[in-house]
Amino acid sequence: MRRSLQLHYSTHDTILALRLSSVFFLFSSLLASHGYPVKAHIFIYAGCSQEKYQPSSPFEANLNSFLSSVVSSSSQVSYNSFSLGNGSSSPSEGTVYGLYQCRGDLKTIDCSKCIESAVNQISLVCPYSYGASLQLEGCYVRYEHIDFLGKIDTSLRYKKCSRSVSNDVEFFRRRDDVLADLQSSIGFRVSSSGLVEGFAQCIGDMSPTDCSSCLADAVGKLKSLCGSAAAADVFLAQCYARYWASGYYYSLSSDSSNEDQVGKTVAIIVGVLAGLAVLIVLLSFCRKAMGKILLNYHLQLHKFRYHLQQLLSLNYACRLIEETEASLRQRRSTLSLATKLTKHFVISDEVNEPLCH
Ligand SMILES: *[C@@H]1O[C@H](CO)[C@@H](O)[C@H](O)[C@H]1NC(C)=O
Repeated sequence: MRRSLQLHYSTHDTILALRLSSVFFLFSSLLASHGYPVKAHIFIYAGCSQEKYQPSSPFEANLNSFLSSVVSSSSQVSYNSFSLGNGSSSPSEGTVYGLYQCRGDLKTIDCSKCIESAVNQISLVCPYSYGASLQLEGCYVRYEHIDFLGKIDTSLRYKKCSRSVSNDVEFFRRRDDVLADLQSSIGFRVSSSGLVEGFAQCIGDMSPTDCSSCLADAVGKLKSLCGSAAAADVFLAQCYARYWASGYYYSLSSDSSNEDQVGKTVAIIVGVLAGLAVLIVLLSFCRKAMGKILLNYHLQLHKFRYHLQQLLSLNYACRLIEETEASLRQRRSTLSLATKLTKHFVISDEVNEPLCH
């Protein structure tokens, strides 16, 4: 009864271990299959106005209708601009001007997912703000109370420089090639030279000349602000340019390095758990094997004890026999002595004449 219970228990262990390891295999393969669309919603920067609007004001109503227009429009086109409440009949305090721009290489479905995420975040990041801009990896949303649409603005919004590359002439030549190519962008452009890659994006309503001059400005800032960085990003109000040395970029961006960390941690956990599972399986087999060996040993011990007992009792019997033989020998000698004495008596009997008359 106890043995069958134990067997059941160890089988249960094995099944549990196998099940656990398969779950973690599935989990790790899910993590490994993340692609670009997952990255589109990654936060890059946000800017909020100091002035705040009142809840339930005309501005709030127009802002809400702007945000829902942005979401519905993003399932059709990658860029659009809106002006709400700027008619002569509307109160000027409620006017909202805004636009959105998806990265030129995003599919429409990924663009609208990114915009949805940006619209959800913008009111949380900039609550009750009269003006706000939010740049995610894949899209950009901006609104203001004053009309900024179509107006040249090359102010710096965000920059990020990685660690420096030291004295790599080849790298700087390639990087300058990429940056020169990006300046001729109309809208969105990807460029690469050797191991250096980059891309640039302008807001959708800009003329080719305005886009080029905006990007020339961005490229100038990349060189002046980030010097010899292996990867760098410069975001201006209406355009941005980014470059990286292959292999550097994703390990340098803080978000993806977090993902790498998570990946590594998961890999370690999966490794440890798989190891544990294997150990449990091995132990349960070992326990079975050990059980068999112990049982066998026990039986052998039993047999040995039986033989030993038999041997011991034989020994006892032998001793009894020896003792009996000894006493028999003693008795025989006593008997022969008695016989001799009896003979002597018989002789004295032969001279059986009265000694005294
Ligand atoms: C509202 O602003 C937009 C963008 O500047 C402009 O094109 C449009 O004509 C304006 N509408 C009115 C009624 O002023």
